[in-house]
Amino acid sequence: SELAEFIRDVPKCELHLHIEGTLEPELKFELAARNGVTLPYPDAAALRASYSFHDLASFLVGYYDGVGVVRTEQDFYDLAWAYLSKAHSQRVRYAEVFFDPQAHTSRGVEFGTVVRGLRRALVDARRLLDLRAELIMCFLRDFSAEYAMATLMESLPFRDWIIGVGLDSDERGNPPAKFAAVFARARAEGYLLTAHCDVDQENSVAHIRQCLDEIGVDRIDHGINALDDPELPGELLRRGIGLTVCPVSNRFVTGRLHHEAVRRLLDLGLRVTVNSDDPAYFDAYLTENLLALHEAMDLTRQEVIQLQRNAFEIAWLPARVRDGYL
Ligand code: HPA
Ligand code: ZN
Repeated sequence: SELAEFIRDVPKCELHLHIEGTLEPELKFELAARNGVTLPYPDAAALRASYSFHDLASFLVGYYDGVGVVRTEQDFYDLAWAYLSKAHSQRVRYAEVFFDPQAHTSRGVEFGTVVRGLRRALVDARRLLDLRAELIMCFLRDFSAEYAMATLMESLPFRDWIIGVGLDSDERGNPPAKFAAVFARARAEGYLLTAHCDVDQENSVAHIRQCLDEIGVDRIDHGINALDDPELPGELLRRGIGLTVCPVSNRFVTGRLHHEAVRRLLDLGLRVTVNSDDPAYFDAYLTENLLALHEAMDLTRQEVIQLQRNAFEIAWLPARVRDGYL
């Protein structure tokens, strides 16, 4: 249809994308061979066919396990370059890319190896693809606050290559408040702050409240359960805090796209955005996420434009650069 064409062509901004979640089975096999690792599947197609997620926890097991083949600086480069090339083909003009250093340092890969490989791919994408991208370092919330603080300290020599910090992994029993001191220190170091408040967790509303009152986030990842509370939507609106929603990811972990929530958030004037989260696992990059939403809720052209405007508006870019995209 005409709107599907428009969705494919519109210049895009992606703000919720885990680089570890872009590891396609084909690259996984290539890196496994390179590093002498034997995977428990005969080929990429069999690995892909084995994916079956029904909630956040079941997804996260395969996600952290799968990244074990990524080891050298060149591996991290190749991982990021594959995503950036794909994003470029979908007309992504700016991307903020999450990485999970502890998914690697916890298995003996040095922080510097991870960040140097990723950074080199970002620099090449800027030069060769005219795609700008920045890194956001996420703490794994099921590890301790002490380990997060140590990771924050390890990041400081690379401060100029990382624009902010986030919080991801298993939310159950791991509220944002657990990391209040870590986030306070991150802010003092000049990082911008975001945190996952995944869809339909047991304490979603309380976690969003903590993000505002105890962390002072600049953005919230997912966060659509704000709609379950009488006060939160108005407060997000007043404070200009955006939400990075991931429809196809939602469908995998909750069974539903939550497209009604996207429309309500748009109608309320909140800065809601659409993103892909872990596209290699959910089989949907940014364009496919927008098309899935369109199929479910019959997006208008104006809504598609608003979603991209919102993303560029809440992007962590210098004002002058942001204005160039708007
Ligand atoms: N939620 C929590 N942790 C994650 C996600 C997510 O959506 N994607 C990758 N790690
Ligand atoms: Zn995520």
